[in-house]
Amino acid sequence: METLPRHIAVIMDGNGRWASERGLARSAGHKAGARAVRTLVEECRSLGIPYVTVYAFSKENWQRPEKEVAGLFGLFRSFLDSELPELDRQGIRLRFIGDRGDIPAMNRRAFEHAERKTAGNTAMTLTIAVSYSGREEILNAVRKALAAGMKPESVTMESFAGLLYEPDVPDPDLIIRTGGELRISNFLLWQCAYAEFWFSDVYWPDFGRDDLRRALESYAARNRRFGRSEA
Ligand code: FPP
Repeated sequence: METLPRHIAVIMDGNGRWASERGLARSAGHKAGARAVRTLVEECRSLGIPYVTVYAFSKENWQRPEKEVAGLFGLFRSFLDSELPELDRQGIRLRFIGDRGDIPAMNRRAFEHAERKTAGNTAMTLTIAVSYSGREEILNAVRKALAAGMKPESVTMESFAGLLYEPDVPDPDLIIRTGGELRISNFLLWQCAYAEFWFSDVYWPDFGRDDLRRALESYAARNRRFGRSEA
């Protein structure tokens, strides 16, 4: 493919509807969603896309029924149990962004273990957003700037971006949202400034290699000007 994004970020929506259309529990939809994450990662890794971020659980998702939340956190742990050795073997570095204070201790330990184990991997970085809020990420950066006593004139685009969760990761070039909704839902609000968007009606568990190819072909055909006029 001609022009590949360096960083793809994905809002994985539609697990619940996928399940209910099949007469299954929502948990079955999330489980199928985890399999789709695996496919996405394999495909991006083999294409040589260096950064992939997936939105697994938003700060707002805490309002879901306790049973669904517990099921999701169990699923994140079993995903790590089953996938970590292979992700590591593939040279994939895992990172987590979001409010760690909110996250159950068992998950926090599993996340930190995965981050430590894969810290030296360089083939691809997979960031999983859990208990994540884009506005909170920006507020946290403001708090850090104030706590560090930064002078107003030293707060620049670059120095401010350096206070976000992953200052070393480039902004997403392509943001994909599945499940038919056309919104950003508090995801990577600072970083999405110049991202290209791809919205798909496909429910996340069904989003496969061909769907990704279509998104990448559309991305490659676009003329990104970053606010500049036509050359
Ligand atoms: C949105 O679908 C999806 C979520 C809130 C959870 C995303 C989680 C996964 C894909 C599971 C595994 C992830 C990892 C990283 C192992 P929804 O439940 O809002 O669907 P609906 O809009 O159809 O109800």
